[in-house]
Order: sequence, then C-alpha cells, then structure tokens
Amino acid sequence: MSQISIPGFKSVPRTGVIYVMHKATQQGFSYHDPEWANLGQGSPETGTLPEAPARISEMRINPAHQAYAPVEGQIALRQKVADFYNQMYRQGKSSQYTYENVGISGGGRVALTRLAAALGNINMGHFLPDYTAYEELLSVFKAFIPIPILLDPTTGYRISIEALENEVLGRGLNAILASNPCNPTGQLVEGEELQEWVELARRSQCTFILDEFYSHYIYTGSNERGCKIVSAAAYVEDVNSDPIILVDGLTKNWRYPGWRLSWTVGPKEVIELVASAGSFLDGGANNPFQQEAISLLEMESVLQETKAIQQTFGKKRQYVLERLESMGIQVNSAPDGAFYVWANLSQLPAPLNDCMRFFEAALHEKTIVVPGIFFDVNPGKRRSNARYQSYCRISFGPEMEKLERGLDGIERMIRGR
Ligand SMILES: Cc1ncc(COP(=O)(O)O)c(C=O)c1O
Repeated sequence: MSQISIPGFKSVPRTGVIYVMHKATQQGFSYHDPEWANLGQGSPETGTLPEAPARISEMRINPAHQAYAPVEGQIALRQKVADFYNQMYRQGKSSQYTYENVGISGGGRVALTRLAAALGNINMGHFLPDYTAYEELLSVFKAFIPIPILLDPTTGYRISIEALENEVLGRGLNAILASNPCNPTGQLVEGEELQEWVELARRSQCTFILDEFYSHYIYTGSNERGCKIVSAAAYVEDVNSDPIILVDGLTKNWRYPGWRLSWTVGPKEVIELVASAGSFLDGGANNPFQQEAISLLEMESVLQETKAIQQTFGKKRQYVLERLESMGIQVNSAPDGAFYVWANLSQLPAPLNDCMRFFEAALHEKTIVVPGIFFDVNPGKRRSNARYQSYCRISFGPEMEKLERGLDGIERMIRGR
C-alpha cells in the first residue's frame, strides 16, 4: 500500500472502472475524442433511440425545490415509484407498496451505501463475480462480514436453489447482495427461480438485497406488453415483512446516469433506517430532478422506453457476440440481461490471454475494456489469489458506431500478432 504524506489519510485505491478510466486518460482518452471507443464504462447510450420517448432536455426549477429535499425523497416521487411497482408487478395482490416503502437517493451507489451503513453485525453473502463497486462498499462498513459465494462458469454462473439454501444456512447468512441481471456476466434469475429466491429469503429470514439496475435490459423473450422487465417485487407476499429489498434508479433503465437518482423499495422499517443513514451520509438526493423524474415513471413511457432499449440493445448484443466469436474470443454464457459480455480470453495467444495485457494493448488501439480481475469482489483484500485473469468485460452500452470502432481495434490488435 502506498504511503500518504498528508497526516491522517489512508490510501484509497483506484479500483475497477476508476482505475481503467485513469489509465485510459493517461493514454490520451477524452470523452469527446471521437477516435476512442469506451467499451469499459458501464454507461448506456443516453441519446435518442428509435421509437423511444423523447429525451428530456429542459427543466424548470420550482422555487420550493431550491431547498433541501426530504432525506427520504419527495413524497410524490416515492408514491409514483410505489405505484409503478404495484402496477407493473403486483396487480391483484392484497399487499401493495406505498410511499413509505420507497426511499429516494442520489444514484445507485448512494442507495447501496445507505443500506450498507444500516446493516448490523451480520454475515453478508455476495457472489463472485459481481459489480466492482461492491468490493469497496462491502469493506468500508466494518459492522458486517462479507462472505463470498463463488459462481462457476461451467454452470453458466448460476446457482441452484439447493446450493443457495446451503450457503444461507451453512454460513449463517443474514443478508445477500446480488445484481440481477448480473454485472458483469449478464446472467438473470427470473420466473419460478426468482420466486424460489424470494421464498428462501422469507423462509430462512435472510434479507435479499437485489440490485435491479439492469432489470429493463432483458433478452430472454418478450411478454404481452411487447417487452419484459424482471423484478423480485412480483413475488413478494407482504411488502412490510418479506425481507426483500430492491434498488433501482434512472442510471441504466431510464438511461439518465447523470441525473443521479435512485430508489430503494422494501419494508417500511428498512426505508426509515436507510433514511436515517442518508441523513448523515449524503443529506438527500437532488431536489429539482425528483419532480422531473415523476413523468419518467408513467407506465406508458416506461414500456415505450423499455421496448426501444430491448430492440436497440438486442441488436448490439448480437453484433458484439458475433464479432467476438469471429476473433476467437469465447463467451461461456451469452448475456440474458444487462449490457455486458463477459469475454473469455483464454484461447487467445499469450500475452493477450491475460486480462491486464489485453486491456493495455486495447488502449493502444484507443479501445477501453475492463479487466476481469476487478470483478473478483474481494472486500478488505482478505484473499491473496485473484480470479478472472483470463476474462474481460466488454460493454455494449455505447452507440453502434462506437462498438464497431472498438471491436475493429480489438480485431487489429489480435490479428496484428
Ligand atoms: C450492478 C450495478 N448497480 C448499481 C449501479 C449504480 O450506478 P450509479 O451509482 O451510477 O447510479 C451500477 C453502475 O454501474 C451497476 O453496475
């Protein structure tokens, strides 16, 4: 660990995507340079998509919203989020979400940080691989002990309900954190399997914190509404006693990462706790944007946006998979959700079969990817071995021309050897 010369500080490592972007910037990357293809950062394209609702480009600020927002969020937006979940997933069920089941915060990581700050002295399960930011998130708060659950590529990074139950009971887990669909593998738990997860949570009294930030990017077919959205909200029986906590927001599913707005949906008691955590951690989300976000949650608008996302991103997914295959890069499990391909480099000639060397060589071709080792979530660096050295994550979040440019760069790099 490097020493910090200013008294009192520890080193805060640049991990994951931050490291990647730092290295790319050192190599000359800038967000506005059209020669670069950023297939590293997990941002969806934010412009117009065919058949999507018009993008919001102007906003009036209500003078009342120059003040702080309530730390748990504006009631009107909280109720709108609750209505959306009830309408989308809970029609006909006696237990319905209300605004008291929803807390608003300033982006996904803030929502997750609030949750982590509110957890007690427990064993907290998390999967490997999973979202890079979980590593720091699970290390900063010392109250709970993070326990990794290793997913196997030979089973397509999936876990059976029996194996999951063994993990919960055998390791005494009081909570599990998981992204669904998963970043980086794109694996998805849906339908009956997701219902079994919710039942397991209820039966074993283990809280499942499900990060549903990519839940509108689903490629496993379409339902009668013309698009498919997956949420564990559909299987919750009692919204105030089932230990299911969902986090989502505008970052990916609405393609407004810059707005920094997210929500946590769960039992009222938990929402009060995360609001208390928010009152010392961050002080509440951006006030003016909360009012604007209400219109984005109109059912018709969500369905139109999701349909457009699934059409455009479905094509980009197919394109990336075909190009990678033609270059000898394997994909053990094609993504069912999200907008990443978890690419297996092991069949490439050395040194490109090593993710760090692949990443560095791709930077010379002005293309950014994320080395696999960053997804080996290792809170507190308690383990010395690093997994996923022969994997990298390639994002199909950017526009098609960027994907073409980036994949051309990767192809030149491989063929040039
Ligand atoms: C799985 C997952 N959850 C949450 C987020 C949250 O994003 P943000 O903090 O940018 O809203 C991301 C972003 O990459 C993600 O990949």
